[in-house]
Amino acid sequence: MRFTVLTLFPDFFDSPLKQSIIGRAASEGLIEIETLNIRDFTTDKHNTVDNSPYGGGPGMVMKPEPVVAAIEAVEDKAAREDGREKVILLTPQGAPFDQKTARSFSTELESVILVCGRYEGFDERIRDYVDIELSIGDYVLTGGEYAALIIIDAVGRLVTGVIKEESTEEESFSQGDGLLEYPQYTRPELFRGEKVPDVLLSGHHKEIEKWRAGQRLKRTTARRPELLKK
Ligand code: 6GU
Repeated sequence: MRFTVLTLFPDFFDSPLKQSIIGRAASEGLIEIETLNIRDFTTDKHNTVDNSPYGGGPGMVMKPEPVVAAIEAVEDKAAREDGREKVILLTPQGAPFDQKTARSFSTELESVILVCGRYEGFDERIRDYVDIELSIGDYVLTGGEYAALIIIDAVGRLVTGVIKEESTEEESFSQGDGLLEYPQYTRPELFRGEKVPDVLLSGHHKEIEKWRAGQRLKRTTARRPELLKK
């Protein structure tokens, strides 16, 4: 899986993508991550990437020329045409990014181009050059870079070989039932007066399974009742 990030702040990605599981996956070649500066695709003397909005209003808007030039420089037209590559615009107006989307990217795509915006948004005409627009949640960030990191992590960990397959099959949102995880414990058995539930020490696998299923339902009801309706 190849991730290409178009951003005004390529340095933003240096450290996080070197860490832990995603860092290892990248150094082993299981995933490839490239960051390009949108400013390098400007052609004017001052390397302008933004300007004030027509019609007035606060802030600045990303200009179309450098963003579209950057997309056209990195896209693989054939791969886009047959759906192996997608260009994704990251904005709070996008469709919600969720585990189902992450799973489908990891199984269906060879390449993801993530376009990160800053300022008040993108010139509307940029949308003609992207395949989908995604948001990572109902809050406003200063830029799409945070969203790009999250999508790389969520999709990258599902790429075959990045982590043990069992750990991605058994987790919240991907078992198909969409329930939250059950509580987990490790050593010590007794921590500041709190004991690990007896059933987990019992060795009765059927009982453990039953307890965990009950806990998932209880936890989902208490914390995310809207997930039960799904
Ligand atoms: Cl993708 N971008 C920005 N700027 N804010 C967001 C977002 C994306 N998703 C949620 N909030």
